[in-house]
Amino acid sequence: MNRGICVFNIGMLATPEGKGARRGAAQGEIRIRRDAWVAADADGVIRAVGTGEIPEEYSAEGITRIDAGGRLVTPGLIDAHTHLIFGGWREHELALKLKGVAYLDILAQGGGILSTVRNTRAATEEELTEKAALALDRMLQMGTTTCEAKSGYGLAKEEELKQLRAIQALQGRQSVELVPTFLGAHALPEEYKEDREAYLCLLTEEMIPAVAEEHLAEFCDVFCETGVFTVEESRTILEAGQKYGLKSKIHADEIDPLGGSQLAGEIGAVSAEHLICSPDEGIESMAKGGTVAVCLPATSFYLDKSFARARDMISAGVPVAVATDFNPGSCPCLSLQLAMNLACFKYRLTPEEVLTAVTLNAAAAICRADTLGSLEAGKQADLVIWDAENLDFLYYRFGDNLVKTVIKKGKVCVER
Ligand code: NIG
Ligand code: FE
Repeated sequence: MNRGICVFNIGMLATPEGKGARRGAAQGEIRIRRDAWVAADADGVIRAVGTGEIPEEYSAEGITRIDAGGRLVTPGLIDAHTHLIFGGWREHELALKLKGVAYLDILAQGGGILSTVRNTRAATEEELTEKAALALDRMLQMGTTTCEAKSGYGLAKEEELKQLRAIQALQGRQSVELVPTFLGAHALPEEYKEDREAYLCLLTEEMIPAVAEEHLAEFCDVFCETGVFTVEESRTILEAGQKYGLKSKIHADEIDPLGGSQLAGEIGAVSAEHLICSPDEGIESMAKGGTVAVCLPATSFYLDKSFARARDMISAGVPVAVATDFNPGSCPCLSLQLAMNLACFKYRLTPEEVLTAVTLNAAAAICRADTLGSLEAGKQADLVIWDAENLDFLYYRFGDNLVKTVIKKGKVCVER
């Protein structure tokens, strides 16, 4: 009989604590335990965390004992921003990028996101599901136990629903827990080039209601950017989403500072993402609105852009999360470990601040901080045993996969 698990002989257990985002100095305050253990029940919920001798009730017969071998244990990583579902890849853009052609110019010429839209429309729901399952398996191998997943390469009602249904089909079929986001406002589809009003109507009057009715997404997102959607259009779309119960996220200040981060705070968006060139007013607005800043350092690297002002955000009291932005164009990378390395070196965040950014603050960015993101009694037993003895080692050894064991909801799902 399954009576739960007990992970013991943990050399260092490192976790943020609490049920909400951590901001300011609190982002870097994590709990460190040595010679620790974590016990979870048969439902995969943590019953207790402690040090030294394990109480009898957590080592009784029927409880699976997992020896961490003196290694580092952290909460499972949470990737709070991915464009998981897409057809094809875009490696042909590499030559253009190397010649210096800008990301938005490729899009304006009908490439970029629009080229992935063509490939995604050409794929069946099953094909998209199978392709994403392969990516999720790799994420899991690299320590990601929960992942936000956006639509946004359909840009037509049935095509967007197809992407969201693929996410739904993947939920529970594999080990990574998914949180779906509707991103029908990812670009203006080519067939609406001459009539953006009509696409806005389609989004707000048909697509959002259909997504809400079928419970296919929890969040509504918009790409607020030069040549994509304006701040006022973004407001209209996000407020329509809110009317139907979809919480707001926004791609803001990725290339140009249009005012997306200001809007995020004003409308109480759960998160604003990218924020590469956010101005002071945007940072202040996010702090006031309680918005989580989801920073995506691997995208800055891949687009050869500057890096978000994550340090200033922390100083201003904005909780910072770090995610991959996995997608076929601006960041074809699904390694949160690499994003963690970059966050440490390019944002100058401490290892402790980055750990919070990919666990508890990432959980807050997807409204899961009550159940995920830390190792404490009552939270879900999602954890990673690392081939490392301490937290610094994760940032020191970059470009490798340091995962030893991944446990999701109390079950071992990766053993390397
Ligand atoms: O987050 N910026 C908009 N969307 C994605 C890129 C999508 C793509 O290039 O396919 C991003 O960077
Ligand atoms: Fe994105």
